[in-house]
Amino acid sequence: MSVSHRESSTGPFRDRWAVITGASSPVGLAVAAHLIGIHGMRGVLHCRTHRRPVVQLVERLRREGLDVSVQVTQADLADPQTLDRWIARVRRQVDRVGVLFFNAADFYRTPWAQMKWRDFLHMMVLHGWAPIRIVQKLYEKMEPPARIIFMADAGIEQGYPAYAAYTASKAVMVHWTRLLARVLSPWITVHAIAPYWIRREDESSGPVLSRIARGEPASLAALLRAVDLILEGGGAMTGQVLWMDSGRWLG
Ligand SMILES: NC(=O)c1ccc[n+]([C@@H]2O[C@H](COP(=O)([O-])OP(=O)(O)OC[C@H]3O[C@@H](n4cnc5c(N)ncnc54)[C@H](OP(=O)(O)O)[C@@H]3O)[C@@H](O)[C@H]2O)c1
Repeated sequence: MSVSHRESSTGPFRDRWAVITGASSPVGLAVAAHLIGIHGMRGVLHCRTHRRPVVQLVERLRREGLDVSVQVTQADLADPQTLDRWIARVRRQVDRVGVLFFNAADFYRTPWAQMKWRDFLHMMVLHGWAPIRIVQKLYEKMEPPARIIFMADAGIEQGYPAYAAYTASKAVMVHWTRLLARVLSPWITVHAIAPYWIRREDESSGPVLSRIARGEPASLAALLRAVDLILEGGGAMTGQVLWMDSGRWLG
């Protein structure tokens, strides 16, 4: 994706900071390139273990001539003490924050009948505690128009019995979306994007029958359009969950 539009970006988010957790994933990388390259934002790009793709993105942005201010940071956000130390570092690095994008996630089997409290806690801290903790410590650095965006999951509606800790903890994100939308309105708007299945550009689409059963995947391009809708939606639009799941939540 070309990111050469930054010089012409004059929008309200230009030169504001975008803090993106889980920026090393395909979704995180696409959103980072979009916010920095198209909206002209500065970036705090977080990863846990895979620093290389994030550094490669920054190198690409620079090769394309973008004079970007980007910090690449690494931390395990499922550890509350590491989380607090990471937040303290970010607080020192940023001033005018325009976007908090919560993408960091862990996904592994935790069948509800055998689920261990350690796994439940891990998921709850990463998906539930980390985002609210980051908002607690950074919202005063956000200047309107500012946006908080949660990457939720359409699976929270019915839950995935084999991934109970994941879906339960992702459901907390939707609660935070509504609670924070109320308390931060109208200065900061808060939304969640809830796909059922994301098609990454490097994945094949799978057999037609399985695609029909699973519905249309959310492409990275469609996710970026959802992000733009949120950025450009104004203060009146807040507390929304953008379901990108082919209507599955309807039952
Ligand atoms: N993939 C789908 O079909 C799908 C469907 C619905 C919703 N979603 C949601 O969309 C988002 C992106 O999904 P994805 O599949 O692209 O994710 P992914 O590839 O699994 O990436 C997860 C990201 O979270 C980071 N991360 C994992 N554990 C962490 C921890 N303990 N502390 C800090 N960071 C941690 C990873 O960092 P490192 O790689 O650097 O370790 C990575 O950047 C997620 O929020 C997911 O829940 C995905």
